[in-house]
Amino acid sequence: MILVTGGAGYIGSHTVLSLLEADHQVVTLDNLSYGHRQAVLDGHFVEADLQNKEALARLFESFPIEAVIHFAAFCYVGESVTSPRKYFNNNLVNGLNLLDAMLQAGVDKIIFSSSCAVYGEPLEIPIPEPHPKNPINPYGMSKHFFENILSSYNSAYGLRYVSLRYFNAAGADPAGRIGESHDPETHLIPLVLQTALGLRAEVKIYGSNYPTPDGTCIRDYVHVCDLAEAHVLALKYLLSGGKSIFLNLGTGKGHSVREVVESCRQICQKPIPARDVEPRPGDPPELVSSGGLAQQVLVWRPQYSLKEIISSAWNWHQNPKF
Ligand code: UFG
Repeated sequence: MILVTGGAGYIGSHTVLSLLEADHQVVTLDNLSYGHRQAVLDGHFVEADLQNKEALARLFESFPIEAVIHFAAFCYVGESVTSPRKYFNNNLVNGLNLLDAMLQAGVDKIIFSSSCAVYGEPLEIPIPEPHPKNPINPYGMSKHFFENILSSYNSAYGLRYVSLRYFNAAGADPAGRIGESHDPETHLIPLVLQTALGLRAEVKIYGSNYPTPDGTCIRDYVHVCDLAEAHVLALKYLLSGGKSIFLNLGTGKGHSVREVVESCRQICQKPIPARDVEPRPGDPPELVSSGGLAQQVLVWRPQYSLKEIISSAWNWHQNPKF
């Protein structure tokens, strides 16, 4: 049985689906503060908060948990700057409660949702895993601190981990069963598609004078189903005795904001008004993963192109289930 914390969230729910399709038994824990109960399509579901140590202990007593995939965390970079307490309390203190419950129950394998935000302003592109970690916001700091905690617990208590540093997750289940539904929505692709649907007046392009070929920021967009598959492979790696490791999850290919908007126009066959505005504070010009290590260690091959990412997201946004 695999425990998935935050399994009702965007990447979590797609991972639960991939685990079930790979014949794993799953128990999802989520407090539903941001997640959606309908996003968890099958398996056991427990509504609880990681703050609740008794509920955690009961969970580990009730299910024969072999390994944990830990998604439950807050993920808005901007909010983390204005409410760092909220981020450090949930992403660190509550995460420590989970690790305590695991150690207490003798569970020694964890896959952690980390982020390319641990690197801060990149010193080289593409970004390799050993790149210095200089996070520039409390969200990125919380991910970096938790990675350090995992390293210490590995040395002291033999807790093995795979820490997955996601680049820009996007897209949706191609069958349209689940997809991205954030409130508030801050991510580029959903905002562009909501504009295509007439739910927003225009797309704001944050910054057009960056040192990139078209002046807009470049990001490494990776399909959420490719990310989900990487978790299944990371689990296989840990269950077969693999050593603790940090891995980037990106495709190694970058796309500019303008390119994304233009691809959305072609796929949706809608004009999608867009306007250049001031840069958003804290956005690095380019974030692209070096990508190779996860491909080598997990034998992970991202399958989906930017067009397929946008098409699957468009399919979802036209008919969201939650
Ligand atoms: N963007 C716009 N207009 C918008 C929204 C976004 O131009 O309305 C631009 C951003 O400036 C950025 C790109 O589109 O250049 C992508 O922005 P997102 O908000 O979709 O994603 P980020 O790259 O900011 O964030 C991602 C993850 C975070 C992670 C961060 C690391 O979602 O969890 O990368 O910096 F922390």
